[in-house]
Amino acid sequence: MSVSVEVPAPTSNRELAGWVKEIAALTQPDRIEWCDGSEEEWTRLTNLLVEQGTFTRLAARPNSFYATSDPSDVARVEDRTFICSEREEDAGPTNNWIAPGEMRETFGELFKGCMRGRTMYVVPFCMGPLGGEISQLGVEITDSAYVAVSMRVMTRMGDRALRLIEERGSFVKAVHSVGAPLEPGQEDVPWPCSSTKYISHFPETREIWSYGSGYGGNALLGKKCYALRIASAMARDAGAARKAGESEGRANEGRSKRDHGEGWLAEHMLILKLTPPSGEARYIAAAFPSACGKTNLAMLQPTIPGWKVETIGDDIAWMRFGEDGRLYAINPEAGFFGVAPGTGEVTNANAVRTLWGNSIFTNVALTDDGDVWWEGLTKEPPAHLTDWKGRSWTPDSDEPAAHPNARFTTPASQCPIIAPEWQDPKGVPISAILFGGRRATAVPLVTESLSWEHGVFLGANVASEKTAAAEGKVGELRHDPFAMLPFCGYNMGDYFGHWLDIGRREGAVLPRIYYVNWFRKNADGTFIWPGFGENSRVLKWIVDRLNGEAKAVPTPIGLLPADLDTEGLDLSEEDLETLLSVDRDVWREEAALIPAHFETFGSHLPKELWEEYNALVDRLG
Ligand code: GDP
Ligand code: PGA
Ligand code: MN
Repeated sequence: MSVSVEVPAPTSNRELAGWVKEIAALTQPDRIEWCDGSEEEWTRLTNLLVEQGTFTRLAARPNSFYATSDPSDVARVEDRTFICSEREEDAGPTNNWIAPGEMRETFGELFKGCMRGRTMYVVPFCMGPLGGEISQLGVEITDSAYVAVSMRVMTRMGDRALRLIEERGSFVKAVHSVGAPLEPGQEDVPWPCSSTKYISHFPETREIWSYGSGYGGNALLGKKCYALRIASAMARDAGAARKAGESEGRANEGRSKRDHGEGWLAEHMLILKLTPPSGEARYIAAAFPSACGKTNLAMLQPTIPGWKVETIGDDIAWMRFGEDGRLYAINPEAGFFGVAPGTGEVTNANAVRTLWGNSIFTNVALTDDGDVWWEGLTKEPPAHLTDWKGRSWTPDSDEPAAHPNARFTTPASQCPIIAPEWQDPKGVPISAILFGGRRATAVPLVTESLSWEHGVFLGANVASEKTAAAEGKVGELRHDPFAMLPFCGYNMGDYFGHWLDIGRREGAVLPRIYYVNWFRKNADGTFIWPGFGENSRVLKWIVDRLNGEAKAVPTPIGLLPADLDTEGLDLSEEDLETLLSVDRDVWREEAALIPAHFETFGSHLPKELWEEYNALVDRLG
């Protein structure tokens, strides 16, 4: 079938219509389809994906599908991710940089005819509640139906987003191709992709171009690419514009309310609502690197009586100052793209319950009765499975049945503990911000920062053992400041400065900053802290601190709990001591790693962070 690509654009936005035409001329798809986000469209596209062999319909879960990727396309590709700012310095030392002109030239060749034989889907989407002040719009052009249906789960996608684009005029342009054009008569494969990959961002022109991968983090461009890399640049620019205005003596006049005329934050953070028995709810945001526990903490089932957790978001937070000077956060997403392995009744029952239907599972294992399974879903594996590579699998098999970065894509609204206000367009006021990562050694269970600046210092020094969420060696320790290393769309030294600026905002009522580590290990390599639901004990201490009801011990690295509730926990005195103390010798070694890390940012590193470093060294003696 060959339908003319000259379908009239169903939009009055001429920029959008013109851009779609331009991309179609470049990529030469067989068909163009504008996604409206309807039920009918979902049914048609998921049926198509089943026909094509990309999806297997799950007999055991309504309206749910199973997909396995090409074995080479299972995670984000950080070494193929580029920030294409005009100046290399603006991408900074932690990002790969290609000059925009050169990148455009490469793409001019690479994207030429790359959608031949395929349908080009035009996917309008809104990040954040439809029509919200903090929300932002985008359009993803993609030649993957898998991406189009995933975007319907992960964002507010379709007609209503398109109408908002027409009202507001501006939107972020995102182009995605799997990079696998089909010659006439050539048969498609279930998971088309290319060995050539580029995940490129143009922060100045607010564009995203992604080539060669179908994996969520590389292909669902509203998520990491937009809501973190592009949005972090938008958030910083808003603050820079205010500062420039102030120095010219014309602070903010004429600026639209939507810009708020001041910097905001686009962060790799879950948002949760915590209600103590006393009743006053608090909202907490937490940044951990990929596959370090955000989704789990966001859906935590407290083990301590009377405490309640509800979910607002599990991966990304956009925060702006409200009129009361507090930081208000929204979850820009509409779904969860979560790590499947390790998600089970015992660890994250709320996630398991979210997945009852309307979900897409990628690179998990398939049971013989048409359901999904992965390591950790149940204690005992089924006697027989089809593994993520399509092979017959039994408990005796050598490899795990699911890929360690296997994922579920599921609507947030299905989470049994989703907070009623999760779609409140004005966001929720944040009382505490947590940073953390995987650290087998040195780092205590929880540390309270001494000040906002000290908290920024803690964030800048987040280090974590690498996980399967990105290509590379698992277990290797790396600095991952603010859990944003792979996601900051500009110079990370400037990003630290932006955080310090946020703290200097007049009238700011700032959240308190904490550092947590659920992943401390014993000499025998087992986790000391039970984690998961027991993390509620740490949240309780934090809320009690905010309320002035819990005691802390000053240490050289910050304030540690004097009275953590460990009642009923099976932890030895020695284990508790390990979790809740600071070994000066070990910390002198930790501190010794900081200068080399800071020096990579050169003159972009704010002097306040060197001052914090010197103060730490002094305190360590
Ligand atoms: P995210 O990618 O940051 O959202 O991380 P997830 O919440 O999906 O968790 C990633 C992995 O870490 C999963 O296998 C979890 O089971 C595991 N995990 C999460 N929280 C904890 C915890 O408190 N303790 C331990 N030991 N593992 C955890
Ligand atoms: P996450 O990221 O592991 O932080 O959920 C998803 C991704 O890998 O793109
Ligand atoms: Mn997650």
